[in-house]
This record gives sequence, structure tokens and C-alpha cells, in this order.
Amino acid sequence: MRIIGIVNQKGGCGKTTTTVNLAGSLAADGARVLVVDLDPQAHATLALGIDPEDLEENLYEVLTDPDGADRLQEVLVQGGGDVAIAPSGIVLSALEQRLANAEIESRTDRLSNALETVQGMFDYALIDCPPNVGLLTFNALRAASEVIVPLEMSYFAIHGVQKLIETIALLSERVSHDLEVRILPTLYDGRTRHARQTLAEIREMYKDLCFDTVIRLNVKLREAANRGLPICLFAPSANGSRDYNALAVEVEASDPSFADATLGENAGLAEDPVREVVVRFRDASANDVRIAGDFNGWIPDKGVRSLIESEGSERVWTKILQLPPGTYEYRYVVDGEWREDPQNPEFDSGSTGGRNSILVVR
Ligand SMILES: Nc1ncnc2c1ncn2[C@@H]1O[C@H](COP(=O)(O)OP(=O)(O)O)[C@@H](O)[C@H]1O
Ligand SMILES: [Mg+2]
Repeated sequence: MRIIGIVNQKGGCGKTTTTVNLAGSLAADGARVLVVDLDPQAHATLALGIDPEDLEENLYEVLTDPDGADRLQEVLVQGGGDVAIAPSGIVLSALEQRLANAEIESRTDRLSNALETVQGMFDYALIDCPPNVGLLTFNALRAASEVIVPLEMSYFAIHGVQKLIETIALLSERVSHDLEVRILPTLYDGRTRHARQTLAEIREMYKDLCFDTVIRLNVKLREAANRGLPICLFAPSANGSRDYNALAVEVEASDPSFADATLGENAGLAEDPVREVVVRFRDASANDVRIAGDFNGWIPDKGVRSLIESEGSERVWTKILQLPPGTYEYRYVVDGEWREDPQNPEFDSGSTGGRNSILVVR
């Protein structure tokens, strides 16, 4: 079972719409799909045709009890489009407070433990997260191995995205396992120049980490949610349906465990041997220095080994990267602030303002 979290702390960027309609398209393709509705507002539950007020039990029963994992199967309901739902309810908003005194480990592992009990029943579990990074989102990231970040292609989207990626990187460190993070452009209106520009900039910056699929603005998506159906059933020929079908195909094709397997088989045929690249940053006052670039999806220190040493009053951060030959852009993240490499005269103007330093690996 692939567990995919749909995460963005901003509301209204298409998390719920993506969860529900990706689920519908995957199910229409024959996959067994579970939607986990972690948002107390229960929009995903509603969008799949279930009124949370009609239910006696929901995820609260599963998550509130340290031994609640086994109860997951009892609370599952069948929604529109042949998608199973682990439903939400407004009581979920009390979970954080309720678990305030529970041990941190036990508090954040609850969803992960619960999903283990349905491992063989589904091919996909898609987790719709609330618009914040509290305990519920933390449970989702703990359970998931993949994350989709829907990003609204408005003029301002680009300003929040680095912060968001940093937050996820920080969380991924704290959940102590790797997360495959991918960006999904949503609410795209190709008629406006701002949207076209934003999409181009996001693509340039995130390259392969950005889905090829773009979800266009389509009012049918809202109507489908009101009718409690995934768009592929409600309006199969609408743009919204085509876009989410395309996303489903892309997600199906990108199974990370499958990619690892093929990599293993072809290991002897690798064209570009990786090089070990070492860069250093010196500073007297910084506490935390990380490196982010197009080689790690701009996720600070992802896939990077770090060493910290002292030289007189200065501290020296050594970053060891494994890279195939090519040209890369990067910045240092110094105590949360994105900076060019002061020792590198080669730079390019970054798409979000400021400069990206250039690294050439031969
Ligand atoms: N591609 C789209 N085209 C038109 N409306 C959309 C699209 N995606 C989402 N919406 C609408 O925008 C609103 C916010 O989307 P939603 O998926 O609920 O965001 P989130 O879960 O991130 O808060 C909803 O009313 C939804 O129907
Ligand atoms: Mg939502």
C-alpha cells in the first residue's frame, strides 16, 4: 500500500480536491483506494458523499486511544466512486488537546499504526491534511512515504513555497524517514500572465519534483464536490476530470519502490557515475547552516552529509554531496535565511529574487 500525504499549511490550495479526485481516478483505474480525512472540517468526507454528522464513529475513535489502531476497520465507510473513507468529524479538532499529555512517540504514531492494520486491503491511502502543521499533519507525515504539495498558481504562490518546503524538510527530519515530496500546480488559469509566469518559475526551480500534470481551474470540480462524487464520475469529459486522470497515471507510473527495483537491475549500466563534491561555509555567528539546490529539490540538507568543525572563532560547515556530472544551482540556508555562497563568484539570478550560486560537476 502506498501512503501519500496531501500537505500544505495554506488553505484553499486544492488539497481536498486533489485527495478526492486523485482517489476517484485511481479507483476508476481499478486500484483499491482509501481516503483518510484528517481535516476536522471533513471536506473530503463530504466531497465523497458522506455527511459526517450521520456517522457515530470517525477517526477520532481510532486516534484518541493508544490501542485504537484496530478500530480503523470499524470506522471505514464507502464513499462515492468506489473509494473507502476513514471519515473525519469536528471532534478531531480536540485531538491535540486530548493527547497533550501522551508520550510524544505514541502521539505521532497513531495513524501509522492504524494504517498498518489495513495494509493488505488497499493499494493507496491518500491522506487529506488540515491547513496547519499540528499533530494531525505530523501523524500523516509519520505514516506517509510520499507527499504531494498542491500549489496554487497565483501570483503569490512562489513566495510561500520555499518556507513550505523547509517546513516539510524539518518535519521529515523529525519523523525520521525519507519523504518523496512532489509539487502539484493547481488552480491554474492559463489566461493570466501571472499564472503562466508562476508555473514557469516553479518548473524551473523544482524541475523533476514538479508533476508534469497541471490542474487547471475548472468549476466542475466544485460542483462535483457538492454532489459527493469524484469528477471522473460527475463530469468525465471536463478539464478537471482529464487533469486528475492524468495525475493518476503519473502517480501510478512513479511508484518509488518500483523505481528502486529497476535501478537495482540496471545498476551496472549507470551512465553518469556520481562524484563526491565537498563545499564549505565559514561563519562566526551562525548556528545552523544547510545547503539546498536543484540537486535536492531545494530541500535543505536532503541527501547531504554534514560535518561541523571549529577553526579559531569561526565554525566551518562541510557539506558532502553525491552528484552526477552537470551544472547545479544552490544556496545556503543560514539560520533559516537563504543566501548565496559568499565564496563562489559564479551565480545566477534566482527566480524568487536574490542569487543562486552555480556549481559545475565534471
Ligand atoms: N482546479 C480547481 N478549479 C476550480 N475550483 C477549485 C479547484 N481546486 C479547488 N477548487 C475549489 O477551491 C476551494 C478550495 O479547494 P480545496 O481543495 O478545498 O482546498 P484545501 O483543501 O487546500 O483547503 C474549493 O471550493 C474547491 O472546490
Ligand atoms: Mg481541505
